[in-house]
Amino acid sequence: MNTPKVTAETIRAMKGRERIAALTAYDFAMTQWLDAAGVPLLLVGDSVGMVVLGYPDTTHVTMEEMEHHVRSAARAKPRALLAADLPFNSCLTVAAALENTRRLLAAGAEAIKAEGGRNILPQVRAIIAAGIPFLGHLGMLPQNVVAEGGYHVKGKTPEERSNLMADAVALAEAGAFGIVLELVTPPVAREITAQIPIPTIGIGSGSDCDGEILVTTDLLGTSPGLVPRHVKKHWHFAEQMGAAVVEWKEGVIRPRRQSTDHKDHKI
Ligand code: KIV
Repeated sequence: MNTPKVTAETIRAMKGRERIAALTAYDFAMTQWLDAAGVPLLLVGDSVGMVVLGYPDTTHVTMEEMEHHVRSAARAKPRALLAADLPFNSCLTVAAALENTRRLLAAGAEAIKAEGGRNILPQVRAIIAAGIPFLGHLGMLPQNVVAEGGYHVKGKTPEERSNLMADAVALAEAGAFGIVLELVTPPVAREITAQIPIPTIGIGSGSDCDGEILVTTDLLGTSPGLVPRHVKKHWHFAEQMGAAVVEWKEGVIRPRRQSTDHKDHKI
């Protein structure tokens, strides 16, 4: 069946009709099989820095690294919408945001995500004014991990709640097609979801968002280090891959038959 290309408009129109499943994708092969599984929104997230490149957090990820991974993912030509993250400190000014957005688009991204709300509103407005689909990201912002001394749930105080709500409304009014809500308390995520006309895509924010996004390697059990608490169904592919390699290696170093047994070889 020929299924149509997913656009930012497709994702926006899913609100209230269909829940949105989204995952991160970091290269060609991964993008191909996630797309074949029918995931409509794929994100080349700067989480690539932690789960692929081995950095301790996402503040080390560079534009060049993002471009490299976006190029690889885009070669899969997914039916899914392919979004990409503006990495740490890459959108401090409107000019930088536009320049770096254009670099990610040139690498093959079809939509841009950046962390922040009213603090980056001029940048968001400029990206959207240039006709580029923009995905917001509010709540716990991984790029703030050093500044905030860790990954903290957001929305616990009335002040955090009203700031999150004001940021979400501002991004929606600016024309974002959706907002990722990361580690937001479920009641606040629910309230934002009910309040704004664009989809919320939660990660560790309860089950009342319009959709959910996960770091794919967390879902598969291949992320290095601890798996976040919000990853409920945890597969164990790292162990399985290790077992496959051990089995193969044993066959190489302790062959069961001598290689003089040529009759099995049909060429
Ligand atoms: O970088 C990333 O993978 C993300 C998701 C966790 C939403 O921003």
